[in-house]
Amino acid sequence: MYDGDGPMPADELRARVRDKDAVVGMFTDPIDKAFFDSAPNLKIVATVAVGYNNIDVASARSGGVVVTNTPDVLTDSTADLAWAMILAMTRRIAEGDRLVRRGGWIGWSFDFMLGSEVRGKQLGVIGFGRIGRAVAQRAEAFGMRVEHAGRGGAGMSLDRLLNTSDVVSLHVPLTPDTRHLIDRRALARMKRSAYLVNTSRGPVVDEEALAWALRERLIAGAALDVYENEPTVHPDLLKLENVLLVPHLGSATTETRTAMADLAVENVLAVLAGKPPLTPIP
Ligand code: DGY
Repeated sequence: MYDGDGPMPADELRARVRDKDAVVGMFTDPIDKAFFDSAPNLKIVATVAVGYNNIDVASARSGGVVVTNTPDVLTDSTADLAWAMILAMTRRIAEGDRLVRRGGWIGWSFDFMLGSEVRGKQLGVIGFGRIGRAVAQRAEAFGMRVEHAGRGGAGMSLDRLLNTSDVVSLHVPLTPDTRHLIDRRALARMKRSAYLVNTSRGPVVDEEALAWALRERLIAGAALDVYENEPTVHPDLLKLENVLLVPHLGSATTETRTAMADLAVENVLAVLAGKPPLTPIP
């Protein structure tokens, strides 16, 4: 058990894993080759997250260690958060809250803090897995039409999706192929009136490029739940009003976090009992 704030320091993790059969870890824990080399008895790593880019899967496989994650149980809470962020950025909710708190609201006026509507617009979903699809399903309720771009050329091409969407929502895992998928070139392809939302992994977006695009008004706004170097946020983003900054809350509901913890523990119990894991990583 580690009840300190934040992740367990990597050297402590390596020291304490030496005699362990199973580890329940967070996506902030570096489960790398050095970790596996320090854990000769290990049978399973159960990460309490759907993303597992922090885990050296090749080392796990070569050492015969099972890796499980927590898919499905967090799909709805993450899709809900993506929609909360879409509505908050297009209707300038956080910006308005900041204005009220600093005493800057001088009263109602006809053209005060106008935002954009989503009805009749195009939602472009990049990565059409469980969460991407759940975000797409919710679009109907808000009158948006959906296009998607996914692995293996499914749906629209990425360039066309960026070029035609009013809101672009990211739902790809972080891999070498998706790191900085949204760079200067991609941002320059988007409409000047478009918005970007990222609830996937921070490094999918080049934050320096995003700050540039927001500053130059190449896009209308962005909403981020995840960052390249969490919990640090690129200083240029902190200065901008047209970006909504959320502290990695995608799955952060009591119901979902409880379900994630339960699923991780069930995976451990299954593997230690010699049974197949419930949700091995693909
Ligand atoms: C995940 O599950 O990958 C989230 O980022 C943390 O809940």
